[in-house]
Order: sequence, then C-alpha cells, then structure tokens
Amino acid sequence: MQFPQFLSLGLAAEMAAAVNIINYNPQPDVPAEFREFLKALVGQADNATATDSFTDYFTSTGRQTTLTKDCVGPAAILKCKQGFLPPDGRMTLTHFPNTTFVAEDTADSTVYEVRGRIENNFKAGNCSQIYYQTQYTILKTSQAGGMLPNLTPHPQHQVSWYHDYVITPTGVPSDIPCDSLAQ
Ligand SMILES: *[C@@H]1O[C@H](CO)[C@@H](O)[C@H](O)[C@H]1NC(C)=O
Ligand SMILES: *[C@@H]1O[C@H](CO)[C@@H](O)[C@H](O)[C@H]1NC(C)=O
Ligand SMILES: *[C@@H]1O[C@H](CO)[C@@H](O)[C@H](O)[C@H]1NC(C)=O
Repeated sequence: MQFPQFLSLGLAAEMAAAVNIINYNPQPDVPAEFREFLKALVGQADNATATDSFTDYFTSTGRQTTLTKDCVGPAAILKCKQGFLPPDGRMTLTHFPNTTFVAEDTADSTVYEVRGRIENNFKAGNCSQIYYQTQYTILKTSQAGGMLPNLTPHPQHQVSWYHDYVITPTGVPSDIPCDSLAQ
C-alpha cells in the first residue's frame, strides 16, 4: 500500500516531537507499568508547549535538577523546561531512553534510573545529540510492603525529583550528529 508522501512526513515530524522508546531496555526489577509512566512524563518534557501537563507531575516542592541547575517548585521547573526547549517551535527535543533499572526503593518512594540520549533538532537545520543518566523519584501512596510507587501515566503530583545527574557533552548543539540521521 502506498501512502502519500506528505502523510508520512507529517507523521515523522509529529513523532520527532515526543519521547521515542525504540531503545527502551528495562532490567528485570522494573515493573511493566513504568514504561507508560515514562512515556507520559518524558512525553510532556519533550512537548514544547506543555506547561501544567508537565509541572503537575511534580509535588509543590518537587525538583528538576540538571547537573548544577536546580529548579524547585512548578514555576521554576517550567522556566527551566522552557530554557531547554523553547515554546516557540524553533526546535524539537526527543529523549531516547534505553537502560532502565531501580536505583533505590524505600517505604516512601522508588528511584528509577534511566539512561539514554537526547536529540536536539533545530528547524533551521542542525540535529545533534547528548547522553544522559537520570533518576526519577516517584512517591508511593501506600507504604505497605512491596507497594509500587504511583505510576499512573497522568500528572498526579507523584514526582519529587527529576534528576539529570549525568549529561555529556553539556553544550547544545553538541558536535555529535543525531543517530536518527544515520538511519
Ligand atoms: C502538548 O502540550 C499542549 C499544551 O498543554 C497540549 O495541548 C498538547 O495536547 C500536548 N501534546 C501532547 C502530544 O501531549
Ligand atoms: C544508551 O544510553 C547510553 C548512556 O547515555 C548511551 O551511551 C548509548 O549510546 C545509548 N544507546 C542508544 C542506542 O541510544
Ligand atoms: C550542528 O551539528 C553538528 C553535529 O551534527 C555540529 O558538529 C555542528 O557544530 C553544529 N553546527 C552549528 C552551527 O551549531
């Protein structure tokens, strides 16, 4: 079956604007529910115009920390998000998560670590990537033994910390061409 060219191009452009999980590789300790949660949360981080639909994932004192840049509370988190991904549509930012595992599990929360790469694609014609290691602290609603944290794939103020603790290289655009360009 043949699709018109504009249709496939439109689809590609839309997909480029959201998290891409083709390389997602959860270790055995990661519950199946985390996949949809990650897609939902990072999908809004990668959504240039998202405001509350991203910040409502965080608690009122929630933090998004990228290396030494520490953004605390919804207003600061939104400002930082718009620094990485301006709402004017001049670029897309796409996370490609891969190796994922549980870094810590306590009575109050679970910390999931996700590694991957981020493609920063400027409409003016420059696509480069950086590599990341991020820890997500997700709160539990029940402290009964063995309970999962709140992995509902909708914003419910369940994230207390979104911590990008490794980003390499740190400059955007970087000098590494996007892997997607080679496919
Ligand atoms: C991106 O955010 C905007 C503004 O909140 C929203 O209208 C839109 O549905 C979101 N897109 C996706 C794919 O979630
Ligand atoms: C997976 O993530 C690691 C760590 O950021 C990175 O070195 C690697 O290139 C990534 N692999 C893919 C296929 O994206
Ligand atoms: C564009 O991206 C490439 C990587 O593909 C990088 O080497 C180059 O410095 C970038 N150019 C500009 C003008 O940012």
